[in-house]
Amino acid sequence: MSLDVRDFRNALGRFATGVTLVTAVSDAQKALGMTANSFSSVSLDPPLVLWSLQNNSDVYDVFATPRFFAINVLSSEQQSHSNQYAKKGEHELDPSHYRLGKYGAPLIRHALVTFECELHATHDGGDHVIIVGLVKDMHERPTGDPLLFHQGRYGELR
Ligand SMILES: Cc1cc2nc3c(=O)[nH]c(=O)nc-3n(C[C@H](O)[C@H](O)[C@H](O)COP(=O)(O)O)c2cc1C
Repeated sequence: MSLDVRDFRNALGRFATGVTLVTAVSDAQKALGMTANSFSSVSLDPPLVLWSLQNNSDVYDVFATPRFFAINVLSSEQQSHSNQYAKKGEHELDPSHYRLGKYGAPLIRHALVTFECELHATHDGGDHVIIVGLVKDMHERPTGDPLLFHQGRYGELR
């Protein structure tokens, strides 16, 4: 059976996810962010997480192999962050949206939780590269609801 790409994409969209902003600093010292919902937990011991990056991204070189990066889980109040950093050419972080963590990756203010990661491994993932991070530190907001994504739309917990 050969899958129609649009049908496959729509079927994948039936799986509800949260939304993250993956952040890293470029060689030119620019703090960048990219909206991603491919985040997943991998391992508790050692603490590993992953996300996948499309191979044809304009900012592939920054996000595919950074020594350190952060995965910031967005709250329901941060839909505008998700939209802003999902636009081509619009990945440079607004200085008011982040502070730098102790490993040098940008940490998004008011995110529900931020995982500070060291690059652990990358794997071939077809038209994406799978990026596995070793979690070095994390920061949690005590309260707040997640931003959700389902069938191409945002949602919130009811
Ligand atoms: C909710 C949502 C989730 C996304 N998840 C991913 C993802 O997991 N991986 C990815 O490479 N791009 C993802 N994107 C697309 C990027 O955020 C961004 O639109 C794309 O990288 C823009 O092209 P560029 O990388 O060439 O600038 C997502 C976009 C949205 C709105």
